[in-house]
Amino acid sequence: MKIAIFGGTGDLGRGLAITFAAAGHEIVVGSRSQERADQAAAGLKEGYPEGTFIPMENAAAAAAGEIAVVSIPYEGIESTIPPLAEHLAGKVVVTVVNALKFGKSGAMAVLDLPAPSCAHQIQDLAPEAKVVVAYNNLPAAALQERHPVDSDVLVCGKSREAREAVVELTTAIPGCRALDAGPLANALIIEGMTALIINLNKRYGGEASIAISGLENAPERTPSH
Ligand SMILES: NC(=O)c1ccc[n+]([C@@H]2O[C@H](COP(=O)([O-])OP(=O)(O)OC[C@H]3O[C@@H](n4cnc5c(N)ncnc54)[C@H](OP(=O)(O)O)[C@@H]3O)[C@@H](O)[C@H]2O)c1
Repeated sequence: MKIAIFGGTGDLGRGLAITFAAAGHEIVVGSRSQERADQAAAGLKEGYPEGTFIPMENAAAAAAGEIAVVSIPYEGIESTIPPLAEHLAGKVVVTVVNALKFGKSGAMAVLDLPAPSCAHQIQDLAPEAKVVVAYNNLPAAALQERHPVDSDVLVCGKSREAREAVVELTTAIPGCRALDAGPLANALIIEGMTALIINLNKRYGGEASIAISGLENAPERTPSH
């Protein structure tokens, strides 16, 4: 599948790019600047020579991708998404975006967003896209280094078909399984949980992620190679 990543030049974008490329997907590395996209794609190719990394500005990436991932800071949603909306109509659009702020006592979720969550804001700005929230809680560094992430990926979105597409896509990530956690209404909970993970990492060290126990009929995690 051809996966466009907006902000594919960033930490999580590059981590997902290399991970999906290693599973055989073609990656369109999106950026606000063709030059930064070129540099990031060259770096990704150096890190994983077998992969296909196509550098493009975000709008061209949106048109080229069969599925898209929004991997930018939340402050950029309002300027980034509207010019892409037409190209995203009918496509699954995964958002990893978290709205976080940092105080003396640690990371906190931003609650006074223009919409109930970052995912809702993206859905509002690209109304015909099938927006799904996923990968918000995964550590970028481990993905970039292609270390297995023993983690569950919580997936929320309006369209069940889109959620299932993301569950399937997640089989590409060693050590992960995605779980269909229901409607987009709960997206803020997934996004905000990243603040807790950052605080746990700071308090106890390491790279925490989410693991759900007690499910009887959930899929197995993709084996770590
Ligand atoms: N880092 C992690 O471990 C991690 C884990 C889970 C979720 N997340 C979430 O994933 C998103 C990306 O995180 P990141 O750490 O990869 O961020 P990042 O490296 O700071 O930024 C990603 C890319 O977004 C683009 N960008 C920066 N400011 C922008 C703006 N105002 N408008 C539009 N695009 C802008 C930049 O690409 P160009 O300049 O090339 O356009 C940048 O390379 C965030 O929302 C974060 O909360 C991160």
